[in-house]
Amino acid sequence: MEIHHDRHHKAYVDNLNKAIAGTPLESLELPALLADLHAVPEAIRGPVRNNGGGHWNHSFFWNVIAPGKGGAPTGPLADAIVAAFGDFESFKAKFEAAGLGRFGSGWVWLLVSDGKLHIGSTANQDNPLMGKDVSGVTGHPILAVDVWEHAYYLKYQNKRADYLKAWWNVVDWDAASARFKA
Ligand SMILES: [Fe+2]
Repeated sequence: MEIHHDRHHKAYVDNLNKAIAGTPLESLELPALLADLHAVPEAIRGPVRNNGGGHWNHSFFWNVIAPGKGGAPTGPLADAIVAAFGDFESFKAKFEAAGLGRFGSGWVWLLVSDGKLHIGSTANQDNPLMGKDVSGVTGHPILAVDVWEHAYYLKYQNKRADYLKAWWNVVDWDAASARFKA
């Protein structure tokens, strides 16, 4: 996780700053930049999408995991998970399946739209802020897992399934619940 944060995540930050240096985009907040990629000049749209998405996604990721967490959600989020997926175990199975089903690199999201939860998956560093036409998903993110190989190769080699199962041990359900409430 240290290497993931200090090298991989850092590279997205550095490369985003490099891409927008000296342009009016420097004054935008990151969500506003990602929400209107069509307004980004074509010459730097790719780097902004990839590195801006990379920075936002990783910032989100670090804020929904923590050492010693895990367990199961309680309260309104737990109820919403049961309503959408039947029970907590079925939700976890569907979430893991989405992670295994993402070909190559990407992310799996637990999203809320109109009070209802659903699971979505994006390629590369795309995210729900970019809109459905760009990322393929909509909704407000509650939880996300990074399924890039760089997230797990040091400890799990090629075994994405093992990483996804272990990831539940660090999920911060209090953070996810706060996002669901918001
Ligand atoms: Fe990552």
